[in-house]
Amino acid sequence: MKNLDNKICIIGLGYVGFPLAIEFSKYYKTYGFDVNKTRISDLKNNLDKTGEIASITIKESDLNLTSNKDDIKSCNVFIITVPTPIDESKKPDLGALRSASEFVGEIIKPNDLVIYESTVYPGCTREECIPLIEKKSKLKLNKDFLCGYSPERINPGDKVNNLKNITKIVSGSNEKALNMVDKLYSKIVSEAETFKVSSLEIAEAAKVIENTQRDLNIAFVNELALIFEKLNINTKEVIDAAATKWNFLPYKPGLVGGHCIGVDPYYLTHKADISGYSPEIILAGRKLNDNMGFYIAERVIKLMISKSIIVENSNILVLGLTFKENCPDIRNSKVIDVINELREYNTNIDIYDPWVDDKTVKNVYGLSLSDSSCFNKKYDSIILAVAHSQFLEIKLEKITHDRSVIFDIKSVLPNNRNLNIYQL
Ligand SMILES: NC(=O)c1ccc[n+]([C@@H]2O[C@H](COP(=O)([O-])OP(=O)(O)OC[C@H]3O[C@@H](n4cnc5c(N)ncnc54)[C@H](O)[C@@H]3O)[C@@H](O)[C@H]2O)c1
Repeated sequence: MKNLDNKICIIGLGYVGFPLAIEFSKYYKTYGFDVNKTRISDLKNNLDKTGEIASITIKESDLNLTSNKDDIKSCNVFIITVPTPIDESKKPDLGALRSASEFVGEIIKPNDLVIYESTVYPGCTREECIPLIEKKSKLKLNKDFLCGYSPERINPGDKVNNLKNITKIVSGSNEKALNMVDKLYSKIVSEAETFKVSSLEIAEAAKVIENTQRDLNIAFVNELALIFEKLNINTKEVIDAAATKWNFLPYKPGLVGGHCIGVDPYYLTHKADISGYSPEIILAGRKLNDNMGFYIAERVIKLMISKSIIVENSNILVLGLTFKENCPDIRNSKVIDVINELREYNTNIDIYDPWVDDKTVKNVYGLSLSDSSCFNKKYDSIILAVAHSQFLEIKLEKITHDRSVIFDIKSVLPNNRNLNIYQL
């Protein structure tokens, strides 16, 4: 039976908001709101283009989908899951968060609860978002309405770790808010626990450091890969050997793209900067990770030259464009850096990615994708950029010649003595 005390509205139905809305709709009367009318109409037709929720699940759900403000005015809990990207100068772009906050400010009533899930820097909810709600609504925090922050930790494409079984950090603007947020999320996190923290800022900081730590760990192994290339030793073998020690963390080198790991550290460094501390380690890690695409392209070119392949007009196949495996998300894909750098050498590049549609790639990056006819060609070099499971089935010997360079960025290809496979 549904709990009728709360009527929930999720604002922003993307990778985070839509699965959350589906989960909440099992226990509460729930609305899903998005400004993108196409997204709403796709979802109403049971199509989730993020690939997170199956059509049948959408069809059978009780979720009410809308772009209409009037439909959600009677809700008493608003959960904001809008994007928090960075701008061109790598500063937080709070545009969507501000506009969603003002929007909520226009509709909330006394005693309502607003919860933020978008990733931000510590202090953002209290300093940037709540004042906008107060200004629009003329209501006062903790007197007239309550606020919570509960960061999202889902990992798109991951069918093992999901909303139900990931511990959910919860926080509130006061004790009452904390308990309300905790009670709400305890329902949906049915196979894990909620974890109460003492302030909105602790919860915000916890989320942003999770991703910053991952970014730095990868930056460290990326730096090792650069060093070991100079020393002519295999990075993977070194890491596998070191990983036999109980406290060594076996991170893999690679590209760090997407809208989380490569973005969130800048939220933290922005806040550090305006607080009077200039972060060095975090930014050094970011710089190194941001340069990996160019490094990989140059390494491939050098390997081709070492095999006496004429680089100009050579044929290169790039396998995968998304920022991670088994997921259609191409936001901030660093594979683009590899492609752009290879283009500088006048190479002919085919890009194949069965997870993304040609139209989206054209709109976002101005690139055309190849279809499976690329498997009838022979390439001088193949770059495995993303570890989509389909790629492991490709018969590489059929699309290469005896000098072709195969660069396995993700270190997932099995050892094959008949192929020239290189890794980071
Ligand atoms: N995707 C992830 O893996 C992930 C994981 C954890 C946390 N996060 C964080 O969650 C937040 C959302 O990320 P996402 O990946 O779901 O983003 P997304 O781009 O997939 O979805 C955001 C949705 O919000 C809608 N939107 C934008 N502005 C709006 C507004 N003012 N009102 C209503 N709807 C609006 C967009 O149309 C879009 O459908 C970000 O802060 C992100 O950093 C993402």
